[in-house]
Amino acid sequence: MLRTHHCGELNADAIGTTVTLCGWTQKVRNLGGMTFIDLRDRYGITQLAFNEGWDVKLMEQARKVGREFVLQATGKVIARESPNPNNPTGAIEIKTQQLTVLNAAKNPPFTIEAETDGGEELRMRYRYLDLRRSPLQKNVLLRHRVDHEVRNYLNAQGFLNIETPYLIKSTPEGARDFVVPSRTNIGQFYALPQSPQTFKQLLMVSGYDRYYQIVRCFRDEDLRADRQPEFTQIDCEMSFVERDDVLQTFEGLTRHLLEKVAGQEVGEFPRMSYQEAMENYGNDKPDIRFDMRIKNLNDVAQNKGFKVFDQAERVVAINVEGCAHFSRKQLDALTAWVKRPQIGMAGVIWCKHQEDGSFKSSVDKFFSQEDLQAWSEKCESQPGDLMLVLAGAKAKTLKAMGELRLHLAEELNLRNPEEFAPLWVVDFPLLEWDEETQRYYAMHHPFTAPLEEDLNLLESDPGAARANAYDLVLNGNEIGGGSIRIHDRSLQKKMFDVLGFTADEAQKQFGFLMDAFEYGAPPHGGIAFGLDRLVAILGGKETIRDFIAFPKNNAGRDLMIDAPSGVSQEQLNELSLSLKLQEE
Ligand code: AMO
Repeated sequence: MLRTHHCGELNADAIGTTVTLCGWTQKVRNLGGMTFIDLRDRYGITQLAFNEGWDVKLMEQARKVGREFVLQATGKVIARESPNPNNPTGAIEIKTQQLTVLNAAKNPPFTIEAETDGGEELRMRYRYLDLRRSPLQKNVLLRHRVDHEVRNYLNAQGFLNIETPYLIKSTPEGARDFVVPSRTNIGQFYALPQSPQTFKQLLMVSGYDRYYQIVRCFRDEDLRADRQPEFTQIDCEMSFVERDDVLQTFEGLTRHLLEKVAGQEVGEFPRMSYQEAMENYGNDKPDIRFDMRIKNLNDVAQNKGFKVFDQAERVVAINVEGCAHFSRKQLDALTAWVKRPQIGMAGVIWCKHQEDGSFKSSVDKFFSQEDLQAWSEKCESQPGDLMLVLAGAKAKTLKAMGELRLHLAEELNLRNPEEFAPLWVVDFPLLEWDEETQRYYAMHHPFTAPLEEDLNLLESDPGAARANAYDLVLNGNEIGGGSIRIHDRSLQKKMFDVLGFTADEAQKQFGFLMDAFEYGAPPHGGIAFGLDRLVAILGGKETIRDFIAFPKNNAGRDLMIDAPSGVSQEQLNELSLSLKLQEE
C-alpha cells in the first residue's frame, strides 16, 4: 500500500503517530511562513502542514503543488492550533516530513468543490472530474448502499439472482427499442431489453419460484429529469402468489431500505385505487406528504348562472391553508401559471375565506355568501384559507388541478425532501385507447392480468376493465410498477386479440411465451423498481442523472466519450448496412 491511512479517518486519537496519506490536492494556502495543503480522497480531507521553520525546502516544494495534483505525504499527526469542528479530521493536521508528487495535473476546467463554477455541459464532458466532487460521491455511495441492502433483503427472502440476456428480440409494445444489427444474420436485428419481463415469466415456468435481478434496461424514449435511455431496475418475480403477497413482500423491501438507508420507520403503506388517485390528486402518483386534496364542486357551483361552471363537465377546488392573504399580484401569477400551454386552462377562480368568516371571491357577482359557504363546506376551509377553483373537461381539469396543487406545494415549501410518504396505487385500467392508431394499448404491459371480476368486460367493454396491477409511489414519484400476470394461454390470446394483434402477429412476437404457457405455467406476479429513481428520492432529489455515474445528457448523448457516433465503412460493410443509412 502506498498509504497507511485514508484522508477521512485521522482524529485526536492519532496524535503522535507517523502516517502516510495519498490523495488529490483540493487547495494550497500560503500564509507567510506556513503553507497548508488540503489533501482529498473519497473518505474526506486532511490538512497537510508545512512550516519554513521545520523545513524550508519542503515548504517551497509544497508551494509548487497545483490543484488536483496527486500526492503522497508522510508526517506526524499533530493537534491543530485552531481546530475545525465541521470537519471530522478538523482536530489534527500532518506535520509533513516527506512529500512526493505521484502525478501532476492540469488545472481542472471547473472547481472540484461541493459548489462548483462548472456548467452542466462542461461537467458532463469531464464527468470523471465531476465525480470527484463530494455531492456526487455521496450519491454514488448511497446507490451502493441501496444496492447492497436490496440484495441482503431479497437473498434473505429466498430470491435467486438470475441474469437474462441483453440481446433479445424487438417487440412493438411499450417504448421504442434500441436495435443492434446482427453481423452473422444479415438484415436481422437484436433489440436491447426494455425490461426482462418475458424472461422472468419464463423463469417462473421453469420453477425458479423467486427471481430478482438488478438489471440495466433500455428505452428509446424522450428524456426527462426522471428518465434515462438506459436505467436500472430491481426486477422481481414470484410464483404462487396473489396481489397482496407481492405488495407485502415489496412493502417489506421498501421499509427495509427506508430504515437502513434513510434511518426512517414508516407504518403500513396506504393503498389507493387509480380512480381515487385521479379524483383526489389529479394524477396517478400522488404526493401525499401534504394534503390539499381536490374536491368536486359540481353540486354546489353549477346552475347558479355562471356560464364557465355551468358548461363545464367538472368544477374542482383545492383549499390552500392560510393563504387568504394572497395579493392581487400573487393571484394574477397563479392565473398566468394555469394559462401556460403546458396546463392550458382559461383561468383560475379564487375565493378567500376571510378571518371574519365571510367570503370574498373573484366571482362575487354570481355567487352569494351562502353559495360560497357551500364551497367552503366541500373544501373544509377555515378562516384565513384560500380556495382555488378550475372548471372544464373532467380529465383535463383534474390533471390541471393536480399540477396546480404541486405548484403551490413547491411555492409554499410544503414538501420536505427528508420525509418519506410511500403508498400503493392499485386497480389501474387494463387498457388505454389511442385516438391516433384507433386501438387499445396495454396500460402496463400485455402480460398483466385483468381483475377477476372484470374478466367479462374484456369482450363487452374492454376500456372499462381494470388490471391486477399496482405502482409503488414515493413522494410523488412512480418508483415501481408490477402486476399479477396472465398464466393461461387462452386468456393471453384474448388479450392479444383486444390489443389488435392478429393470431399470426401474436404468434410471431410472443409465440415463445404462449407456447411456454402450455407446459405448466404457475400463477405468478412481480414488480420492478426503478433503482435510479429510488436512490434519487432517498437522496432527497428528483433528478436521477446525478445518481448515475455516467449518465446521458438531455439529448441522450454521452458528452465524455462522444456517443452516439458514426462507425467505419468496414463496420457497416460487415453488418451489410449501406452508407446511405449512415448519411441519413
Ligand atoms: P415499468 O415500465 O413500470 O414496468 O418500469 C418499472 C420502473 O422502472 C422505472 N423506469 C425508469 N427509470 C428511469 N428511466 C426510465 N426511462 C424508466 N422507465 C421506467 C420506473 C418504473 O416504475 N416489466 C415491468 C415491471 C413488472 O411488471 O414487473 C416494467 O418494466 O421507476
